Amino acid sequence: MIDRTTSNIPRRILALRSIFSSNRAYREFEERFRYLLERRRTEIDADTVAEARCIALIGASGSGKTTAIRHMIATRPDLVLGDPVSGRLDVASLPVPTPATLKFVGQTTLAALGFQLQRERTAQTIWDMVKGHLHERRTLFLHYDEAQDLATHQTPKEMTSVVNTLKSLMQHPVWPVGLILTGTAELKTIINHDAQLARRIYPIELPRLDLVFDAARALRLLQLYAERAGLIAGAEVTTTEFAARLIHASAREFGLLIELVIAALEEAMLTEAEILQTGHFTAMFRKRAGCIDGLNPFVASDFEHIDSRRLLDLGGDA
Ligand SMILES: Nc1ncnc2c1ncn2[C@@H]1O[C@H](COP(=O)(O)OP(=O)(O)O)[C@@H](O)[C@H]1O
Ligand SMILES: [Mg+2]
Repeated sequence: MIDRTTSNIPRRILALRSIFSSNRAYREFEERFRYLLERRRTEIDADTVAEARCIALIGASGSGKTTAIRHMIATRPDLVLGDPVSGRLDVASLPVPTPATLKFVGQTTLAALGFQLQRERTAQTIWDMVKGHLHERRTLFLHYDEAQDLATHQTPKEMTSVVNTLKSLMQHPVWPVGLILTGTAELKTIINHDAQLARRIYPIELPRLDLVFDAARALRLLQLYAERAGLIAGAEVTTTEFAARLIHASAREFGLLIELVIAALEEAMLTEAEILQTGHFTAMFRKRAGCIDGLNPFVASDFEHIDSRRLLDLGGDA
């Protein structure tokens, strides 16, 4: 029995937010990670050293990259993430800092490994220290989120040193470390910068949703979240036209679609509705984007011409 009192809404929303919805790209990501993890562990057990590999998960903002990596790390019971006694940290994960200079990225990586620099060091020394700490903490994978930032404002020469550093982590003669890079399409600039690096990378893309082909999937997700929220999806939000509007409003991003569905359910809860209707989506989008109905994909007749990405302030197209 669902407690429908208003005071309970935050808890119900939190429960919806904690649902992880899988998709094909995620399954591929997970499978690839599992394979590389097993391979690395087998090599360690056999006392052999082989070059590590890299997985790149590429998708626009709102596609679900950060959620995917967090979920993957959190749901693998075999990963040790900071053992208080041994210090073992199987996966170290951090966003690329700004500015993404080689030195600052190194320094931030060191901090993520639990080591604060006390004095000024050269980039070379910092990265040597990073490698030492990765070994000490027995880190198997290093994850950089927003990895496309490694390429921003870099001269070709700087880019080469970033790429060489990444390669040197994977090729370390004693303790090679696998890389996971998550980022927008600009991440491909880094990958394509160097053929040797490209060869070591397994790229996975979180594709944009399609207004037609993904309509049924969008409606299934909507139905599932409504059910979990204890609401009924009204007939008007189960049509393929509504699905197209919803997908378009989400800038065709999987994660964002879920985020908007949850926000519409919240809107319905706040108005004490039992049936989820178009009006809840319209109101939710109006509040979120601060736009007039003419620019609201849930109302406007020519919704396909609306730039949802810009309205939702998601940044560039990538
Ligand atoms: N697989 C998923 N299941 C449920 N919600 C998701 C999923 N992926 C993303 N989301 C939701 O979509 C939103 C954007 O996801 P996020 O991971 O931040 O995207 P990105 O890192 O690609 O910009 C978040 O609110 C998140 O909760
Ligand atoms: Mg993210």
